[in-house]
Amino acid sequence: MSDYGKLVAAAKQARENAHAPYSNFRVGAALLAKSGRVYTGCNVENATYGLTVCAERVAILKAISEGERGFDAIAVVTHTDALTPPCGACRQIIWEFCGDVPVVLSNLKGQVEVHRMSELFPRPFDASFL
Ligand code: THU
Repeated sequence: MSDYGKLVAAAKQARENAHAPYSNFRVGAALLAKSGRVYTGCNVENATYGLTVCAERVAILKAISEGERGFDAIAVVTHTDALTPPCGACRQIIWEFCGDVPVVLSNLKGQVEVHRMSELFPRPFDASFL
């Protein structure tokens, strides 16, 4: 287990709440704020499919809407052997609020990989271009 064991455990727990009746692909995320608080999220699917929201964005929007700013890491847990990285839309949102944080990928077997956002999302568009 990595140094991120508690964060991964929180993401795994959040995955239990996934609403994923269409894909059956359940995802949990956990976001560590600089305050020390952890915000969790799960994917929330919709019958229209397109309105589905990923676990990572649920966690981030929960934290931001609670007034939290500044984050140290985000964890993502799925059941698959191939550890699941955040989708493109989530990478943009993670970059906006978290910048170059470690992204901790894990699965139910406890396999763990850590990638930095600058590796997953090179040459991002952000406020520095506005
Ligand atoms: N999903 C996430 O929640 N996060 C990811 O990083 C990848 C994909 C969700 C969206 C959808 O509910 C399901 O996984 C299949 O794409």
